[in-house]
Amino acid sequence: MSELIAAEHAGRVIDGLRTIVGAPNLFAGADIEDRYRVDVMQKHHARPLAVVRPADTTQVVEIIKIAARAAVPVTPLGGRTGVVGGGVCRDGGIVLSLERMNRVLEVDDSSMTMTVEAGVPLQQAQEVAEAHGFILPLDLGARGSATIGGNIATNAGGVRVLRWGMTRDMVLGLEAVLANGAVVSSLSKSLKDNAGYHWKDLLIGSEGTLGVVTRAVLRLRPLPASTQTALLALGGFESVPALLRRLEGRFAGQLSSFELMWQDFYDYVTAAQLNTRRPPLPPGSPLYALVETLGSDPVRDLELFQEGLHEAGEAGLIEDAVIAQTARERGNLWAVRDDLTEPFKPLFPLAAFDVSLALKDMPAFVRDSRAAVLALYPSSTILYYGHAGDGNLHVAVALDRSGPDAETKVETAVYGCIRQYGGSISAEHGVGTAKRTYIGYTRSKTELALMRSIKQALDPDNIMNPGKVLPDRD
Ligand code: LAC
Ligand code: ZN
Repeated sequence: MSELIAAEHAGRVIDGLRTIVGAPNLFAGADIEDRYRVDVMQKHHARPLAVVRPADTTQVVEIIKIAARAAVPVTPLGGRTGVVGGGVCRDGGIVLSLERMNRVLEVDDSSMTMTVEAGVPLQQAQEVAEAHGFILPLDLGARGSATIGGNIATNAGGVRVLRWGMTRDMVLGLEAVLANGAVVSSLSKSLKDNAGYHWKDLLIGSEGTLGVVTRAVLRLRPLPASTQTALLALGGFESVPALLRRLEGRFAGQLSSFELMWQDFYDYVTAAQLNTRRPPLPPGSPLYALVETLGSDPVRDLELFQEGLHEAGEAGLIEDAVIAQTARERGNLWAVRDDLTEPFKPLFPLAAFDVSLALKDMPAFVRDSRAAVLALYPSSTILYYGHAGDGNLHVAVALDRSGPDAETKVETAVYGCIRQYGGSISAEHGVGTAKRTYIGYTRSKTELALMRSIKQALDPDNIMNPGKVLPDRD
């Protein structure tokens, strides 16, 4: 295509999009703000042809039809908190931001569900649920900006998966727009539905490559009446499996979070936070666990919590513990695990991992991957933490600035260790563009071929968020 024809073609696409959403909701060229061009990790950059902000599902359909006719790729965008580049479009592509589709459509008290548009921020959905006496158990650090649509597109995990599962486990019904402009909708409110293939589960976690999620029905639970939170210092990883099993059993289904922080992480973050808060426990222990139960009886739950932790201490599984007495103290305990934006800044550029593997293999993985990174860059800062109760570890490696290929080298080393232990290169963040060259470390050729045929069937012209999840070839 000559440049002139290409410009004319682009101009027609932009005009068409403007007609659908109106001038205030269409940005092109120099009007496109930086937030649509670069991701939160400051790693993935793009020059979109246009950013378009539809008001409803009908407008999404019209946008997809224009994009399909013009063969321009579309990247759906939620709260821009993704860390693997999944929401960054190709140069010349259309960014379809769901930010205006942000209504909670219904809370159904008797079915214990809420129906929302995809652009509702997670925290807003949580607050509406709470105002109706429910909990939407999905929870993660980016709750303020991350949207339900983005959570669904990545099958987000977070800090309560141990008890209530991933986003997938909370989505009862879904509406989405496919690459051919069809609206698939099954806004079911029941837990059981075996009428054929679950297309809903294909869309969940597909990172915008199979369609645009526009609405969802989410499962709610009665709002817990009490929260008990403690930070524990542990003598080493040997006690973790027994401790987790004991607490899950003793707290009879109430254990909602079991987060682990290795000494390198705890010592680094508490030191970085010294000007805002004192470390809740002294640094220097090999491992720390943040545990939380959500229950129904504040007095009895506190007794049970204290008893359970005391017994675990007697059994030699805990070295030291601090139990939050107030909401403020609870916030301070969680801040060590969650309030990472400022502490992590000096570590940028950062290679961030969200791997999963069997609990029993964690100490060996930590040992091996640390040794592999240090063999490359002996003075690296490497921090280990994560949702260990789910088999999910985060590794943050401050990249040596000496070489442009440092990130690839560190990734290859860490993912090489994960492959050795039969784990996953992505427990919760997804693949996006950042991890697609490594997907073969976790998925077999047969699995990748199956994924390609699904993609081909749903999006034969490859307009839905191309270049994400699947590598160009196996
Ligand atoms: C966390 C996010 C980044 O666990 O997954 O902090
Ligand atoms: Zn996480």
